[in-house]
Amino acid sequence: MPTEPKYDLYSQEFKANAYQTFAQMRQENPVFQQPGMDGHTLIWFVTSYDEVEQVLRDDKHFVREARHALPPEQVYQPSSLEAMMSNHMLNKDWDDHRRLRTLVSQAFTPRRIQTLRPRIQAIADELLDAVADQGQMDLIADYSFHLPTIVIAEMLGVPVEDRDKFKVWSTAALNPSLDEASAAEAMAHMQAFMMYLSNMFAERRATPKDDLLTALLQAEADGDSLSETELFAMLFLLIIAGHETTVSLIANAMVALWQHPEQLELLQKEPERMGTAVEEFLRYDNSVERAFNRWVAEDVTLGDQFLPKGSLVIPILAAANHDSAKFEQPERLDVTREANNHLSFGKGAHYCLGSPLARLETEIALNTLLARLPTIQMSIPFRDLRWRLSPGFRTLETLPVKW
Ligand code: HEM
Repeated sequence: MPTEPKYDLYSQEFKANAYQTFAQMRQENPVFQQPGMDGHTLIWFVTSYDEVEQVLRDDKHFVREARHALPPEQVYQPSSLEAMMSNHMLNKDWDDHRRLRTLVSQAFTPRRIQTLRPRIQAIADELLDAVADQGQMDLIADYSFHLPTIVIAEMLGVPVEDRDKFKVWSTAALNPSLDEASAAEAMAHMQAFMMYLSNMFAERRATPKDDLLTALLQAEADGDSLSETELFAMLFLLIIAGHETTVSLIANAMVALWQHPEQLELLQKEPERMGTAVEEFLRYDNSVERAFNRWVAEDVTLGDQFLPKGSLVIPILAAANHDSAKFEQPERLDVTREANNHLSFGKGAHYCLGSPLARLETEIALNTLLARLPTIQMSIPFRDLRWRLSPGFRTLETLPVKW
């Protein structure tokens, strides 16, 4: 029987005080079942570090594909458009997952990503050149949004002038539709996105280039069995996954620094510490609040709870990252923190493919901002910050700043 959720995990009040809720959950019920956002689907929410890690590592018991956990008649059959968007590695298990991941993993190794450093630095500088004289901006819309979008667009070979369309599409894809009108609007956006990608495929088939898109099409042509829907889904995943996530991490990091002026001062004096600091920003207020849900493929015990086959589980990464059993003084931002084994990029088979890129973009974005606009500060009080109500992400609506 559906029950009222014990813990509020979706409101603006929750988003503003999420770590208090997580601390309470970890203490009272680190593995706890309550209805999800729809008010009736029962989900096990996991908030303790060890159990979050167990779910992510153990891909025999905890799977992404419902068909590995539920009888066929209970498995939701997606529409063809939904399949186009969802037929990607993050939604696959075992061999299917490995095959898809292998096709792009070469492009995202730390060594390959480091070669992008000068270009990412140039993009960050150009973005600040455009606003430096204004004395104010929305740090998200005018700065952090553009950087990852331009980078992934250039890697794929997507024309930069189309990037504003990405914002609309990724917002539509990441935010749940709460009524029929917005669901229809989101679908229309996804259709436009698919049309756009179709045209790009046709162009690259006619004129191959030295970009990731051409490489993926050639993998398909070489008979490496990238089907048309897998190709769409792969691009969709790369564009979406690398987008909202890094954009929001940059914004959350700056808010954390303004809340801890002594840490800000330290980084301004010693920017070479930024690599370590980025790990702390990931731990302290990650943009990805939760991993994607897992299905229980075989009966399993998690903490002191028994989870039967077919159960739905959500590991809350942001909660695990503040577990005092794992981190000393977890509520303290310490940009010099060593041995920072946070779970912000996940763990195990689905560990974030883009983590080297996300780390580099965040490091450059923050160092450039602090060096070029040393007096930058928020132009609204902390209490006026508004969070998007997207369940899996910690994303501010806007971040007005001045200098
Ligand atoms: C701060 C930025 C980012 C964060 C916090 C982040 C976080 C994550 C997390 C937690 C997962 C695993 C989800 C799960 O297991 O349920 C993941 C997977 C993934 N991420 Fe990221 N991500 C970031 C940036 C990026 C970027 C820049 C890219 C690439 C352009 C990217 C591409 C991917 C892909 C392809 C997967 C799926 C991997 C797989 O299923 O094997 N991410 N990310």
